[in-house]
Amino acid sequence: MLVLGIETTCDETACAVVKDGKEILSNIISSQIDLHREYGGVVPELACRRHVDVIIPIIEEALKQANIALKDIDLFAVAHGPGLIGALLIGINTVKALAFALNKPFIGINHVEAHLYSALMTHPQCSPFPAIGAVLSGGHTALLHMKEPTEYTLIGETIDDAIGEAFDKTAKILGLPYPGGPEIERLALRGDPHFYSFKTGKIKEKPFHFSFSGLKTSVLYTVKKQDSSMNHDLIIPEERKKDVAASFQKVAFDDIIVKIKLAATTYQCDTIVWGGGVTNNQYLRNQFKLECPHLKSLWPSLGLSLDNAAMIAGLGYHVFTKKGFGDSLALKAMTRIPFI
Ligand code: KG4
Ligand code: ZN
Repeated sequence: MLVLGIETTCDETACAVVKDGKEILSNIISSQIDLHREYGGVVPELACRRHVDVIIPIIEEALKQANIALKDIDLFAVAHGPGLIGALLIGINTVKALAFALNKPFIGINHVEAHLYSALMTHPQCSPFPAIGAVLSGGHTALLHMKEPTEYTLIGETIDDAIGEAFDKTAKILGLPYPGGPEIERLALRGDPHFYSFKTGKIKEKPFHFSFSGLKTSVLYTVKKQDSSMNHDLIIPEERKKDVAASFQKVAFDDIIVKIKLAATTYQCDTIVWGGGVTNNQYLRNQFKLECPHLKSLWPSLGLSLDNAAMIAGLGYHVFTKKGFGDSLALKAMTRIPFI
């Protein structure tokens, strides 16, 4: 089955052609980082306009690279949430129009679930279930108990900022460019992770939930001034920035690693399926291996860790096969999709 996937949840316009849920024939990603960098974060209106401009050329490129004609596509899959409402609508309406015109089925996919499918696609020979899924991205931080590629239970999530958002905001405080995650990782390489004692939030009686907004604020008050705003000048010497980056990164990942370890014990799982852009972080990968040598990790490959459409097409194949039919034209864009 040839599936064409489309992803427009935030600031990447992506299209991919995937065969039978695993063989990636093309995976085209048009990033908007250049557009949003000068604002230090994603500007939704600009994101939507760029999606509209590039979506058709991106689809054409994905078909060309896959050497497939549009009429040969068996199923269309689209990320229908969670994400920016306007951005989602562009992908969804494109897919609805294509499917309607060609008289083919289409299916809406949960972007967060698809991030976990990226790791399964990277390791097609592994059948890790039951497993703990960890989605660490710019918009989401979630721990899931995974029973199969399409069946999950949410066991924990962030109650405020997502982990990637915390990296991006900390980078902004330090005057580093967007997206901040890779910048913090690079700067932290030279820093002392014990120089500052930052803390993550604890949530009463919710051992698997996360809170990163207090951590971001304590970084702000440490490097600028108590009760200051983002625009205040730094009150620490320039050479201390690397220690801020290292201390922030350590405390954020310590929190995540402790909770994943506890989830693996509680739910008796020995494999962690990782997803989302933050999993590109090499410090996290090394630290997890060091602290949890008994747990096996399935990491997404580099091309599948950030937002992409191959994960949407891949998961689309499984969801459609399991359900036996596609969605109707009533499929809605959803800014949030609760896990059942
Ligand atoms: O999964 P993704 O492409 O987008 C969302 O679904 O949100 O993840 C983007 C996020 C950004 O916040 C970015 O700063 C972060 O992933 N990121 C990293 C690294 N590479 C990307 N965070 C920490 N370390 C990295 N190396
Ligand atoms: Zn994402």
